[in-house]
Amino acid sequence: MSEPKLAIVIGVGPEDGLGAQLCARFAARGHRVFLAGRSAEPLQALAEKIGHGATAVPTDTTDEAQVQALFDTAAAAEGELELAIYNAGNNTPGRIIDMEASYFERAWRVGTFGGFLFGREAVRRMQGKGGTLLFTGASASLRGRSNFGAFNASKGALRNLAQAMAKEYAQDGIHVGHVVVDGPIGGEKIKQGFPQYAEKLGEAGMISIQGIVDAFEYLYNQPRNAWSFEVDVRTSLERW
Ligand SMILES: NC(=O)c1ccc[n+]([C@@H]2O[C@H](COP(=O)([O-])OP(=O)(O)OC[C@H]3O[C@@H](n4cnc5c(N)ncnc54)[C@H](OP(=O)(O)O)[C@@H]3O)[C@@H](O)[C@H]2O)c1
Repeated sequence: MSEPKLAIVIGVGPEDGLGAQLCARFAARGHRVFLAGRSAEPLQALAEKIGHGATAVPTDTTDEAQVQALFDTAAAAEGELELAIYNAGNNTPGRIIDMEASYFERAWRVGTFGGFLFGREAVRRMQGKGGTLLFTGASASLRGRSNFGAFNASKGALRNLAQAMAKEYAQDGIHVGHVVVDGPIGGEKIKQGFPQYAEKLGEAGMISIQGIVDAFEYLYNQPRNAWSFEVDVRTSLERW
């Protein structure tokens, strides 16, 4: 029997959300998935629902020791770590002129610094064996927009970090990729958090979660001699 394939996804929230659906897809494709997020109880319930040995590991991605412990948990399991996905990153609106320094710093901690801690740990563990490390981006990864300066700064920096890692570790057989989610996701965050906005957009105006998960799976499945760094995903209605 072949070695079990292991995957770690950090930034896992509600079931109808990108993080949870990434876990569900890769578990269904044969990975044992380690789900990481800050809320222990819902994470545990989600892991049980996903099955296939899925394991909840409550982790705050901005805490170095917790991120290392997450990778240690996976390392203690039978199998090889093949895939790591950094999906954490909350939107942080606000005008710069009104913004507390601590608010900007928090946006950077989740949007960028957490990606460094997680990405560094992933490449440390994958060195000599290879693997895939994927990051979730947003429209903010590629351009600044008024009222979203903190989010733009954190996501733009995360993309540059991912690109640097892609170049630094390709020769080690580590495929680093980035998925630009260019618009609102049709999941719980928008539908429950901003119901009027969701209604105005309609299903056609929100990006399909399964479509985004397809983009991650596409990058994961690419052969070593045909790697992409980035895939962008948007609805047909998006003006970009
Ligand atoms: N929602 C959108 O419309 C949209 C649009 C474009 C791009 N994106 C990007 O897509 C990704 C997923 O966003 P989503 O809104 O759809 O959420 P989601 O995938 O449904 O859930 C992400 C989860 O990450 C967890 N998280 C937040 N901070 C964390 C931290 N410090 N450590 C560990 N986990 C943390 C949160 O759960 P806990 O609070 O339980 O930890 C959150 O629910 C993000 O990178 C986001 O920037 C989202």
